[in-house]
Amino acid sequence: MPSIISKLIFACFFIIIRADDLRENKLEKYNEILENSSRIFNGNLYKTITGNSRIYTLATSNYFGEFAVGFNNGSITIFDNFGRYKRSFIVVSSIEPSYLEIYGIRYFLNGDIGTTGKFGTKIFSNSGIQKMYFDSCCHSAISVLTNGEVAYGLSSFRGGRIYIQNPSLASPRLILSHSQYYGDTIRSLLALANGDLVSGSFGSADIKIWNTLDGSLKQSLLGHTRGICSLILLENDSIASGSYDRTIRIWNINTGTAIKVIPADIGDYSFNLMSLLPSENIAIASLDRTIKIWDKDNEILIKTLYGHTDYVTSLAVNSNNFLVSVSLDKTIKIWN
Ligand SMILES: *[C@@H]1O[C@H](CO)[C@@H](O)[C@H](O)[C@H]1NC(C)=O
Ligand SMILES: *[C@@H]1O[C@H](CO)[C@@H](O)[C@H](O)[C@H]1NC(C)=O
Ligand SMILES: *[C@@H]1O[C@H](CO)[C@@H](O)[C@H](O)[C@H]1NC(C)=O
Repeated sequence: MPSIISKLIFACFFIIIRADDLRENKLEKYNEILENSSRIFNGNLYKTITGNSRIYTLATSNYFGEFAVGFNNGSITIFDNFGRYKRSFIVVSSIEPSYLEIYGIRYFLNGDIGTTGKFGTKIFSNSGIQKMYFDSCCHSAISVLTNGEVAYGLSSFRGGRIYIQNPSLASPRLILSHSQYYGDTIRSLLALANGDLVSGSFGSADIKIWNTLDGSLKQSLLGHTRGICSLILLENDSIASGSYDRTIRIWNINTGTAIKVIPADIGDYSFNLMSLLPSENIAIASLDRTIKIWDKDNEILIKTLYGHTDYVTSLAVNSNNFLVSVSLDKTIKIWN
């Protein structure tokens, strides 16, 4: 059973197909993706790809059937859903190694790729041509809003702020102040279907929901006792948050209340990174180098995926229903 979210994703895909003239081959591809997305996830290691530098982040594109990995040598490499190399392009070159680190990647609906790091934020075409460069120090999380605008978080001396802007314009339309802590880092941004934006930072335990039309704060989700490292969308107007307080909370975003608190004492967590599997289980990665598949409704640990030899830094599910994980151990692992 594909989750409501994946159904929504496919509904969007279908709209794109319609706009694109309902060409036969596209419909076939749509049906194939739909079929592949209901593939049962077993959590077996399908493939390991070894690169030459540490990895912090990746992003998947359902429409393009691919995923983009940010290597900390300043490059992004694109693979198809099965982990076959497609292309690579240079995001940033520098003699200062920390400027080569890629912190965030997100696909736009048209296939453009937005990416953040100490270098700022850059927008590339899907083939890797640089289109825009918002050049200022130390950008962290990135997200793409439903209206096509980009949201990116800042760290360092302007830390705790979020910029929202049209990706083809040079300056932000809105600046949101998530937290007042000097040097705070926005660790996670999540765009909701209604246009709102959810934010979480390293230095603040509060999760905030913003109206991105006027920049007003709609909700503060209170309950975590330390910073927020990841946010994901669940079904039925709920989201899940992973925190440095070693818990995962599931929230109803309409009422702003926590529906469930999952103590992450199923492993040695210093932080939790999550991704929703289409079976509606949550995949959790943490400093213990494992990925845990957690049945959030019955609160049962279903499976632990072993294999990474250093911190797992990011997770994503692709349109083949494969889980892709990246790590400081310089590898990408695909689980099916
Ligand atoms: C669906 O899965 C099949 C078999 O693994 C694969 O050959 C095909 O390319 C996949 N289709 C898409 C659109 O990813
Ligand atoms: C960075 O590493 C990746 C993965 O090993 C490789 O494909 C890419 O060519 C490297 N880029 C540079 C600029 O060295
Ligand atoms: C989501 O809402 C629908 C309709 O109200 C309900 O049937 C379904 O069980 C809900 N799903 C979850 C996981 O709560």
